[in-house]
Amino acid sequence: MEKKDLKSQINTKKLPEHIAIIMDGNGRWAKEHGKPRVFGHRNGVTAVRETTEAAAELGVSYLTLYAFSTENWSRPKMEVSALMRLLVDTLVKELDTLNKNNIRLKAIGDLSKLPDRTRKALLDGIENTKDNERMTLVLALNYSGKWDLAQAAQKLGEEVAAGRLAPEDIDQEALAGQLSTKDMPDPELLIRTSGEARISNFLLWQLAYAELYFTPVFWPEFRKAHLYEAIIDYQNRERRFGKISEQLVS
Ligand code: FPP
Repeated sequence: MEKKDLKSQINTKKLPEHIAIIMDGNGRWAKEHGKPRVFGHRNGVTAVRETTEAAAELGVSYLTLYAFSTENWSRPKMEVSALMRLLVDTLVKELDTLNKNNIRLKAIGDLSKLPDRTRKALLDGIENTKDNERMTLVLALNYSGKWDLAQAAQKLGEEVAAGRLAPEDIDQEALAGQLSTKDMPDPELLIRTSGEARISNFLLWQLAYAELYFTPVFWPEFRKAHLYEAIIDYQNRERRFGKISEQLVS
C-alpha cells in the first residue's frame, strides 16, 4: 500500500506514547549486498533518520533505539570501533536537524564504558537539545535490561544502607524509580526487524505489557511506511492488561 494511505489509517488519538525498536539485520543486509558489515550500519543511519522523522511527525512522545548492547562489545574490534565512530559522526551531523525538529536526545545504558569521544558527542547532544519538547529520542548504548535492573537494585541498596529507605518500602514503584527510564512511560510497542523474535536483554522490566511486533525487513531498509504498518498492527490489537474484553472502555 502507498505510504500516504497507510499514514491515513493511523488513529493519531491512539498512538503509542513510547515506541522501542531493536534495530537488527544490518550485518545480514550488508552480506546480501556483498559488502562488509559496517556498510550495513552506515545504511542503518538512514533508517534511524526516517524512523525518527516519522515518529515525530505522527506525535509519538518517546522513541527508544537499541543502538549498542552490553553484549555487542564481543564483536570484532574493528566493527565495534567503526560503530562508535559512526555514532559520533551521526550525532555531530544530525544535531542541527534534531534542534530544528524540536527533538530532545537522551541516552540510557552504562555510558561510563563508552570511548571518550563517543561519550562526549553524546553528552554534548543531550545538553544541546535538552529544552526541545516535541519528541524524546532515546539511544540505548551499552545497555542491557539485566544491567538496568542490577544498577537499580544497587541504588536501592545504597538508600537502605544510608537509612533513607526501609527494606519493606521497596516495591515496584521504588524499583521503577531507579531504572534508567525513570522519567519515561513504558513502551507500549516494541518493534524488532530482521525476522528475529527475541527481546535480547532489552528493556526487560519496561516491556512487561508491550505489544511485540516482528518484521522480516532488515534495519537498513526500514522506512516510514514500515513504522506506519507496525503502528496500524498495534492499533488493531486489543490491549487487555489481564482483564477480559467486556471490562475494557475504549
Ligand atoms: C544490529 O544489526 C545493529 C546494531 C548492533 C547497531 C545499530 C546501529 C546503527 C543503526 C547505527 C547508528 C545508530 C544511531 C542511533 C546513530 P546486526 O549487526 O546485529 O545485524 P545482523 O544480525 O544481521 O548481524
